Amino acid sequence: MNTSVADPAAPFDLTVRGGRISTATETFTADIGVRGGVIAAIAPGLPAGLRDINATGRWVLPGGIDSHCHVEQLSGMGVMCADDFHSATVSAAFGGTTTIIPFAAQHRGMAIPKVVADYAALAREKAVIDYGFHLILANPDDQALKQDLPQAIRDGITSLKVYMTYDRLKLDDYQLLDVLKLAGEEGALVMIHAENHDMIRWIARRLLDAGRVAPKYHRVAHDPLAETEATQRAIALSRLIDVPALIVHVAGAETVQVLRDARALGASVHAESCPQYLFLTADDLDKPGLEGAKFCCSPPPRDAASQQAVWDGFKDGTLSVYSSDHAPYRYDQSGKLPYGDATTFKDMANGVPGIELRMPLLFSEGVMGGRITIEEFVALTATNHARLYGLLPRKGTIAIGADADIALWNPGREVQVSTAMLHDNVGYTPYEGRTVRGWPEVVVSRGRVIVEDGRMHAERGSGQYLPRGIPEPLAAHARRAADGASSPFFKRLKGMQKDPE
Ligand code: URP
Ligand code: ZN
Ligand code: ZN
Repeated sequence: MNTSVADPAAPFDLTVRGGRISTATETFTADIGVRGGVIAAIAPGLPAGLRDINATGRWVLPGGIDSHCHVEQLSGMGVMCADDFHSATVSAAFGGTTTIIPFAAQHRGMAIPKVVADYAALAREKAVIDYGFHLILANPDDQALKQDLPQAIRDGITSLKVYMTYDRLKLDDYQLLDVLKLAGEEGALVMIHAENHDMIRWIARRLLDAGRVAPKYHRVAHDPLAETEATQRAIALSRLIDVPALIVHVAGAETVQVLRDARALGASVHAESCPQYLFLTADDLDKPGLEGAKFCCSPPPRDAASQQAVWDGFKDGTLSVYSSDHAPYRYDQSGKLPYGDATTFKDMANGVPGIELRMPLLFSEGVMGGRITIEEFVALTATNHARLYGLLPRKGTIAIGADADIALWNPGREVQVSTAMLHDNVGYTPYEGRTVRGWPEVVVSRGRVIVEDGRMHAERGSGQYLPRGIPEPLAAHARRAADGASSPFFKRLKGMQKDPE
């Protein structure tokens, strides 16, 4: 491959030499020349840069995009994250991630423009890698639907997260339809936390009344059927009005099958899963005392069959993005244990940390373990996120003109995971003691070498905000609409309008 368009007279700022480069579609050996923060040339035998990095024996991959992580945010249960934009982005970078998309979170009573402006101010001051925002939407009233959301979408927040559970955030089906409709018109992707709220609270009430309060009962309250039913409903809502949707943090085997079936019918439903659903099971919640709280997330990890189903879903494209859902809550009164020893499974902050280990875990178990190819790894950790969230062609791939966001992985390096080696502010990891094979030793963000020799070299606030473009599924949706195609519902409605009988 020789695709150099570089001006041969101007030296590169950086040359990454002799690495084994992988994109989502191909693997080859070449040099990468970087100028002005972007990839200027990809070819063998490039001239020396102002700085040369020898990548012989290294796998040179696009920096990861983590499109689902909670940073400096108030959760659905009203708990503040333990990571701010500095600790979260430093931690992400050490794990090979160069772009994050966390959530500006509206809670009821909050005005969307202020939510976004406040969140942007936090990120601007602290982030060391580039970032966009999703918007969590708790109150889809007229102000939001007619004014604030269209404006936010035009400003580059082209994805919205909505919840079918959590008292503070839950939307009903009518509201979900309103949000999907608006997103279809304005070009945003709706991310749905799909769990049946009433099933969960009905089971939980009975467990608590019976004195079953330990963390392990979280997995009972969040029955797999609660996830499957809500996913089916979300898909039906999306199909009814023919607007794309993305189901986040898919955990259960039956849910994977529901998604596969919907996609086979042609539905524009996309889905994400996370390390906790590949590498943890419900048994992890059954630890002595309250230790199981460290593994408590919603939906909870399931069983070995569900782990296999998630692997299969990644392999056949049913699941297209692998995110951390990093939800950093400490194992103390600020997060997991608000009532100390008296904390019940209903009180524990939901979510597990994973922003730093997301990619090393998948690299080790997936690529080195022979379950997925290196190209699939790149697609799942970077390129598909860029496609689904409007970041292509700038992010998520190694190509001329793309930002020089690159990670040099040493496939031979074995690392034993410990809390002490991580850079987040959580104080534990659910993956303590595991050995992973392969590690991102050098990480480059927009041409800056930000991680090298185990040290962070980027300044606080040097990350840049990424206004995002139209997500690919919405672009396809717009094309379908332009071609006159529309959902059976809209066809029926159109027919009725012509003939009111
Ligand atoms: O338990 C989880 N997944 N917590 C994080 C918040 C969310 O719903 O994504
Ligand atoms: Zn969620
Ligand atoms: Zn989440």
